[in-house]
Amino acid sequence: MANLKFQRPKGMHDLTPLDWEYFQKIFNVVSNIAKINNFERIETPILEKRELFERGVGETTEIVEKEMYCLKTKGGDELCLRPEGTAPVVRAYFENGFSEFPQPVKLWYFGPFFRHETPQAGRYRQFWQFGFEILGEKDYILDAQIILISLEILKELKIEDFILKINSIGNTCCRGYFKKGLVHYLKKRKGGLCQNCKIRLEKNPLRILDCKDEKCRQIVSQGPQILDYLCEECKNHFFKVLDTLEFLEIPFELEPFLVRGLDYYTNTVFEIQEKQSNLALISGGRYDGLGKIIANKDLPGVGAAGGVERIAEILKEKKIFLPKEKFPKIFVAQIGELGKKWALKICQQLRENKIEIFESLGKDSLKAQLRLADKIKAKYVILIGQKEALQESAILKDMETGKQKEIKFEKIVKEIKKLL
Ligand code: HAM
Repeated sequence: MANLKFQRPKGMHDLTPLDWEYFQKIFNVVSNIAKINNFERIETPILEKRELFERGVGETTEIVEKEMYCLKTKGGDELCLRPEGTAPVVRAYFENGFSEFPQPVKLWYFGPFFRHETPQAGRYRQFWQFGFEILGEKDYILDAQIILISLEILKELKIEDFILKINSIGNTCCRGYFKKGLVHYLKKRKGGLCQNCKIRLEKNPLRILDCKDEKCRQIVSQGPQILDYLCEECKNHFFKVLDTLEFLEIPFELEPFLVRGLDYYTNTVFEIQEKQSNLALISGGRYDGLGKIIANKDLPGVGAAGGVERIAEILKEKKIFLPKEKFPKIFVAQIGELGKKWALKICQQLRENKIEIFESLGKDSLKAQLRLADKIKAKYVILIGQKEALQESAILKDMETGKQKEIKFEKIVKEIKKLL
């Protein structure tokens, strides 16, 4: 490995066929849950205008400040590899005239995202997310619905060791009061904050609540809590969400310092974290101000996104899902020029009839071909030699019993169908 001239970029990985089995499993569960909940699929471009994220996610967030992959096109456009999916979906809502559709509009997506983070377990620079967004209606029940759908995905995947953490960060108005209270409290303790948080205190004090530094966490934990600052309307909204979770018997933990690393959130924010690692598997919240920022129009919204790699890791580690070894039962072997051509034709005919087969048409040695048939544990071998090809027939051999018989080419599909 170390001698390879080209290696994959740091923090990025190849999705091998085995990885893809896990991704496919997650995709199937997510797409099925999306379908039964009336979500329709949307996929936005991998590249978007830099400003969309600067304004949508927030200029002073870690994501925008430090983690975006940006480029300038020959035409002078400043574009970025999308670090997240909500701002693009809101942009797409307006650009495609979704406001004309019956509201709310329910959309889902599944694709790669990019953040230039320090790579570590469960944190990559290219990672996949699935996401759900409900746009165009503000009702507490939709927040609960998004949480319910997120939990349903984990339940369907048989993942159990997680915890739902939830908080409300109010609207811009009550958050303003909280910010003031927080800054007042933190300014007196500025000396104890890490270097980054000293800057955050001026630029975006709420981000201090996200800081992983132990000393900052200690200071924050004794400071003011946003829940005490919520206005009547925001308090009501949040209590109704919590009340619905209780009604649905969904266990949750109130996490008063959960603010999430994106500036667009209002009211409910939540994370479903793996218990052992505290890594967020699915996270989201309400973002009623994002429409105004992106298109100068009001658009309430709520959604969540899940990390596909993080979930796939759990399925793999805990052996919850084991991809089936799906070796085809039938191997087509050939000898000689004419045999090879007929083998290609017969393979095609079988495949057109949805019969899965294995072949190694590039090999001339019958011994090598049969060794392969053995390796993949083929139950039957269809052998087409020079003589058989001239007679337009093949030898069908049962590899378990050793019994063999001749079949005319025109009857091969029918005969094989009978065996399967
Ligand atoms: P987020 O929390 O930044 O939210 O990302 C959503 C999920 O993506 C996380 O819970 C985590 O599982 C996964 N994730 C994030 N960063 C990485 C990484 N570097 N490597 C691997 N997995 C990662 C959002 O992106 C919001 N757009 C979610 C949302 C949708 N809010 C409302 N609607």
